[in-house]
Amino acid sequence: MDYLKIEGIESLKGTIKIAGAKNASLPLIAMTILAKNKLNITNLPDVVDIKTLLKLLSNLGAECEFNEHHVSVDTAKMHETRATYDIVKTMRASILVLGPTLARFGHCEVSLPGGCAIGQRPIDLHLKALEQMGAEIDIKAGYVETKAPNGLKGCEIIFDKITVTGTANIVMAAALAHGETILVNAAREPEVVQLCEILNASGVKIEGIGTSVLKIQGSCGELLDMPDFSIIPDRIEAGTYLCAGAITNSELTITDVEPKHLDAVIGKLEEMGFSFTITQDTITIYPAKEIKPVKVITQEYPAFPTDMQAQIMALATQANGTSIIEERLFENRFMHVSELQRMGADISLNGHIATVNGKTDLSGTDVMATDLRASSALVLAALIARGETNIHRIYHLDRGYDSLEKKLQNAGAKVDRLKE
Ligand code: EPZ
Repeated sequence: MDYLKIEGIESLKGTIKIAGAKNASLPLIAMTILAKNKLNITNLPDVVDIKTLLKLLSNLGAECEFNEHHVSVDTAKMHETRATYDIVKTMRASILVLGPTLARFGHCEVSLPGGCAIGQRPIDLHLKALEQMGAEIDIKAGYVETKAPNGLKGCEIIFDKITVTGTANIVMAAALAHGETILVNAAREPEVVQLCEILNASGVKIEGIGTSVLKIQGSCGELLDMPDFSIIPDRIEAGTYLCAGAITNSELTITDVEPKHLDAVIGKLEEMGFSFTITQDTITIYPAKEIKPVKVITQEYPAFPTDMQAQIMALATQANGTSIIEERLFENRFMHVSELQRMGADISLNGHIATVNGKTDLSGTDVMATDLRASSALVLAALIARGETNIHRIYHLDRGYDSLEKKLQNAGAKVDRLKE
């Protein structure tokens, strides 16, 4: 297994190019199951989760030619509808094939994803919505078995909670359904917006894109003429590198980014004393005279994203004062805390609320990555820790960050990927 060795440094400099969004790529790759034609997707991030989903699609019979940041997908020859445990256990977002496969073939079996490090993460809302659209749902031997032999029926669905992949699954199912589906309390994340925009461009009439009420006119089972498209920038990767510039108190520019997707993150960094120059597709962060403490509550888009919670916590260890960070989406998303504490951070937990006292001098040591975003928080802490930090189990990082060590090395960080 690989690990990262990071030497604490004074500051970063230069520019970092942002890759395509992992969490936009996954539903959009699943969406190709609804296409009648072969299509090209560009600006994909070169990360493990993308390769995992493309492998799943190939297992179902699709033809996928992937190289680095581009894939051509042809699902015309798809013949399988069973997403097996061996793949689903490695990536819960495999559940995204359920909606489109069921809508297209009238049946689909997906291994239950099971929980993951950050929480139980059920899929009850996905299943309840598909049932409302006329699907028969059975749970057998760890698999969700779904049937809709006469196709899915459009209807009004109200999500009890806002669910990102739940919204994506139902939007894709509704795209081929008979009649209109109204989805209330839909997720508004930019990744869901892009999915709706591409479906719209494929002839599926969708109203309310970007709002919490979506109206989708189904094609009554007709496969879609899908255009080629490019993935939107990864707002979480972008936010992570802004925090890298912030924690090392550097002037750092990130490019190929969509600034408006980062309003909540930039707002919090401004509260902490950082300033910015923002153009159409770049953001430059400047050092703060003094890093101020912050209060953060993670909520659905456009509020502060849960996927940036660990990163801003690492930064908060360098603020002068007490920061409060409340995690409202997942029940166990504080696993970075114990590793940060081992580096010298002064953090206390009370349920879903973390209290971070700063400024603390961090010192390098051996730490262990536990989930994707927790690992990125450890990288941020290691950038300014005294001495050397070895971050183990970085396969978590490789799931969602494209060429992380190269990007940081190019900005002046002392990061090496070594073998255990
Ligand atoms: C997506 O996960 C993202 N993953 C996550 O990013 C992100 O943290 C999360 O949305 C929240 O923004 C992808 O897009 C691939 P949810 P998702 O369904 O869709 C509960 C990363 O680091 N819920 O919006 O699985 C759930 O338990 C990953 O890139 C139900 O109760 O999250 C959670 O508390 C981590 N029943 C809340 O809703 C359901 O049927 C939000 O979950 C579905 C969800």
